Amino acid sequence: MRNVPFWIDSAPIKRFPRLERNVNVDIVVVGAGITGITAAHLLKETGLTVALIEREHVASMDTGHTTAHLTCITDVELQELARNFGDDHAQAAWDAGAAAIDGIQKIVQNEQIECEFTRVPAYVHVCGDSVSQKEISRLKKEASVGAKLGFDATYLESVPYFNLPGVRYPNQAKFHPRKYLRALAGKIPGNGSHIFEKSAASKFDAKKRRVKANRNWINFDRVIMATNNPLIGLAHISAATLLQTKLSLYTSYAFGAHVPSGTVPEALFWDTRDPYDYLRLDRCCGFDYLIYGGEDHKTGQKNQTEKAYARLRARLKKIILKARVDHCWSGQVICTPDGLPYIGENAERQFIATGYCGNGITFGMVAAIMARDWATKRKNPWSDLFAVDRKKIKGATWNYLRENKDYPYYMIKDRIARPEAQSVRQLKRDDGMIIGSRRKKFAVFRDQNGKLCKFSPVCTHLGCLVRWNPAESTWDCPCHGSRFKPTGEVIAGPAEEALRPI
Ligand SMILES: Cc1cc2nc3c(=O)[nH]c(=O)nc-3n(C[C@H](O)[C@H](O)[C@H](O)COP(=O)(O)OP(=O)(O)OC[C@H]3O[C@@H](n4cnc5c(N)ncnc54)[C@H](O)[C@@H]3O)c2cc1C
Ligand code: FES
Repeated sequence: MRNVPFWIDSAPIKRFPRLERNVNVDIVVVGAGITGITAAHLLKETGLTVALIEREHVASMDTGHTTAHLTCITDVELQELARNFGDDHAQAAWDAGAAAIDGIQKIVQNEQIECEFTRVPAYVHVCGDSVSQKEISRLKKEASVGAKLGFDATYLESVPYFNLPGVRYPNQAKFHPRKYLRALAGKIPGNGSHIFEKSAASKFDAKKRRVKANRNWINFDRVIMATNNPLIGLAHISAATLLQTKLSLYTSYAFGAHVPSGTVPEALFWDTRDPYDYLRLDRCCGFDYLIYGGEDHKTGQKNQTEKAYARLRARLKKIILKARVDHCWSGQVICTPDGLPYIGENAERQFIATGYCGNGITFGMVAAIMARDWATKRKNPWSDLFAVDRKKIKGATWNYLRENKDYPYYMIKDRIARPEAQSVRQLKRDDGMIIGSRRKKFAVFRDQNGKLCKFSPVCTHLGCLVRWNPAESTWDCPCHGSRFKPTGEVIAGPAEEALRPI
C-alpha cells in the first residue's frame, strides 16, 4: 500500500522554477493549492500580473490530500446556520458553495479541462451502527429547512446502497483535483505572470510592499494569503494571533480502494456520526475506485495515529468486503467556531482565506472569486458574511472556548510530562520520539540510515511541545496544529519557522 494520496500518484505535475531574481507584479499570491491557483488564474484573466509562490510543489499539500466532494452542504448543518445567522445568511452560505461548483464547471468547459468533472447526487445518512429516532428527526428537519431555503433536498427512508434513512441532494459534483489544477496552473505563467515553486515567503516588508523568497524580493501592490493557515504577512501580530485562536486544525484520514464495477452507485455519501465517515466513488475502466475517509481528530492530540487508519479500514471492509485498498493518506482541515470560513481583507492590501472545514475545495473557489473582486474593487455578495472580523454570533461562544482550552492545557501538561524515552538507543530507524528527562526534552528522529536529527520540541508558533505522528512521520503540535517534517522544517502553519536544531 502506498502512503501517498491517489491524486498525486495518478496525476503528476511538471515542476515550476524557483524564484532566482527580483520580480515586480501587481499581485502576489502565497500558496498554490485550490485557493491560490484559482485566484491567480482569475486575476490574470482581469489583466493583472501575478506571482504565485509555493513553499513545496503546486497542489501537493491539503489540496493534494483532499477527497474532492464538490458540495454546498456544509459540515455545520443548515438548521444550525439558520439558527445562528438567520435564514438569509444560511441560504447565502450554501449559495456560495453552489456558485463555486458552477464556477468550477464553467472553467472546466471554457478551458476544456479533462478532470473527470461529473455532477452526482450526495446522500447524508444515519450511521448504520445505531439508528436513533433523534437522528432521523434531525435529518427530516434538515431536508425541510433545505427545501424551505430553496435547495433541492429530499428525505428518504432508504438511501441507495446503505439502505439507511437519509437526505438526498442532487446536482452536487466531483472531479480529479490535480488534473483540474494541473491544467489551470499551466495557464498562469506568461505575459508578466509567474509560478515559483520551492519559494517560501520568508519575510514581508509592509512599507516597501515586498516579500522575500529564496533571498530575492517580489514587489507587489497587494498580497493574497492562500496558505490555508494564513501567514502573518502585513497584519499586526496581535490581530494575527487572535485569528489563530479562532482556528482549530483537524487531521482527517482517507483510503483509496479498487472495488468491483457497479458495486456502489456513483455518488457522494457521508454519515451523521461525529466525526463523520465520507465516501465517493469513481467509475474506471474494468473496476470502480472508491475513496473512504474519516476519523478526524485535533492535530497533534492523538498518540497512536496508525490506529485511526486501522479503525477506518475495518469500517470500510464492513461496508464493502471486496474493497482492495492501495492508497492511504491524511491531511488537515481547518475549522472555525461558527462553521463558516474567514475570507477577506485582514490588513491594508492583504487578503486571507481560511477556516473552510470539510468544504475547502468549494470555499477555496469562493475565496478565489472574492480575492479577484477585492483586488479589482468589485462588489461581492459574500464579503460581509465571511468577513474576518465578523461579529460574534449566538451559539459560537461556547465552541470558541472549548476549542481554545487546549492551548494552556497542552502547554502545561506536555512540559511536565515524562519523555517517551531517556536514551536514543530506544529509537528505531525511521521513527521519532521525545527523549530526555522531565526538565530537558529533545525531539529526535532517526532516519533509515541510522542518522539522528535532534531538535528542541518547542513549537515555534507559541511554545507548546510537538509530538511524533507515526502514521505520517511528522512532528505535530497539539495546540494550534502546526506540523513539521521529521527533519524539522515547517509543513503547515501557523508556525512559520522550523524546529530549532540542537
Ligand atoms: C482528507 C481530507 C479530505 C477532504 N475532503 C474534502 C472534500 O471532500 N471536499 C472539500 O471541499 N474539501 C475537502 N477537504 C478540505 C480541502 O481539501 C482543503 O480545505 C483545501 O484543499 C485547502 O486548499 P488551500 O488552497 O486553501 O490550501 P492548501 O492546498 O493547503 O495550499 C496552501 C499552500 O500554501 C503553501 N504555503 C504555506 N506556507 C507558505 C509560505 N510561507 N510560502 C509559500 N507557500 C506556502 C503550502 O505549501 C500549500 O501548498 C479535505 C481535506 C482533507 C485533508
Ligand atoms: S501551533 Fe501554536 S503553539 Fe504550536
